[in-house]
Amino acid sequence: MRSKKELSDMDRKYVLHPTSQLKEVQKKGPRIIVEGNGARIKDIDGKEYIDAFSTLWNVVIGHGQKAVVDAIVEQMNKLEYFSSFFGFSNPPAIELAAKVISLMPKEWNMGHVTFTCGGSETNDTNMKIARLYWSLKGKEEKKKIISRNYAFHGVSLGSMYATGITFFHHGFGPVPPDFVYIMPPYCYRCELGLTYPECNVACADQLEEAIVREGPDTVAAFIGEPVMGTGGVICPPDEYWPKIRAICDKHEVLFIADEVITGFGRTGKLFGCFNWNLRPDLISIAKGISSGYFPLGAAVVNNEIFDTLVNELPDYLPFLHGYTYQNHPAGCAAGLANLKILEEQKLVENAAAMGSYLADRLKGLYDHKSVGDIRVKGLMAAVEIVKNKETREQIGELPMESTHRLEELTWERGVFARAMFETIAVAPPLIITREEIDIIVDAIDSSIVQMEKEML
Ligand SMILES: Cc1ncc(COP(=O)(O)O)c(C=O)c1O
Repeated sequence: MRSKKELSDMDRKYVLHPTSQLKEVQKKGPRIIVEGNGARIKDIDGKEYIDAFSTLWNVVIGHGQKAVVDAIVEQMNKLEYFSSFFGFSNPPAIELAAKVISLMPKEWNMGHVTFTCGGSETNDTNMKIARLYWSLKGKEEKKKIISRNYAFHGVSLGSMYATGITFFHHGFGPVPPDFVYIMPPYCYRCELGLTYPECNVACADQLEEAIVREGPDTVAAFIGEPVMGTGGVICPPDEYWPKIRAICDKHEVLFIADEVITGFGRTGKLFGCFNWNLRPDLISIAKGISSGYFPLGAAVVNNEIFDTLVNELPDYLPFLHGYTYQNHPAGCAAGLANLKILEEQKLVENAAAMGSYLADRLKGLYDHKSVGDIRVKGLMAAVEIVKNKETREQIGELPMESTHRLEELTWERGVFARAMFETIAVAPPLIITREEIDIIVDAIDSSIVQMEKEML
């Protein structure tokens, strides 16, 4: 293998890094990771780290689970790939579709699944299906998509429009007028200036206001993450989702649940929607369905939507949405093996138990003067950093100055935690142990002490 220096030089010369500070990578070079096992990863110098963010929330079964690798290789040796356009299919895609549907409550009436290569593609797919559905119902004007400030739904053009974190639009806009944003259930920074529970969860009423303002006949769907992830692990009050569902029903607006992070155990339940008995019309899943062993996502639609597509598309017109790699046999084989591990190793149960432990341990961080809010749901957690607990201002002139520093400091301590806006966030693999959680929280704790010394 090439030396670290050679690889680093080549990286700077040839690689365009996604979601990275490009100047910083050019200056410092990349962090080259060469091995993974369980919750641990190793860099090219042989230094070990705890992957306290499951890389990108996605490696839910942990690294190095050989059964998934074997399943991919076995499928590749049989049939590495064939398209599922023109009615073709393959056994792993059929098996995985049936498996995914079997995991959903009967009353959701979910019927059919199509597999993509990730979350952005899936959200684009679901938003397009929502529009097509209404068009086939004769409601040609129902095209608008409503989402929320702080929402993250991906970076492809459609999913970026639905993303409500304005950072992600910088230079890539403008956002077309058929994407509309409402306030999020972000109690710590309520955009209405209200306090829970006296607020009566007024942020949910914003959806009704937006639908009425835009005209119910123009709104196709509302898209939302059950717990907002990248926006800062924003957990809604319990009354929020029942209100949202009722508003969608009242105005004939489809609800797309973006379960890309929350699906497959992240919140301590199999799906994020289970926390509120929330029924979606379409579901976007990705990340945990294959734990990153193969790029995979899935759009799930209910029977009413599927039947409408089947019965109402004109005979001359196929369902004209399809990516080359949709229903990839090797990806679906990875998904099946991944879900088997999730079940056999009881990882959802472990996420619930370790999530409670993580929440308990993180509470201790409130003793620091810069820790304003701590939000945890299962194994997704964010610690919000402020200059002053009263005013809740950020530290530094520019966004993320303190949290970038915290990410650096925890990395030096052998833990990968992620700077996510003004939070330092953790979302460890679902196989995580108490001892590993102790290491993670201790690293964040001492990093906050250091950061405060430097910046406050
Ligand atoms: C909630 C949510 N939806 C969609 C996406 C986009 O997924 P991908 O990066 O696989 O396109 C992400 C990625 O983090 C996400 O967190």
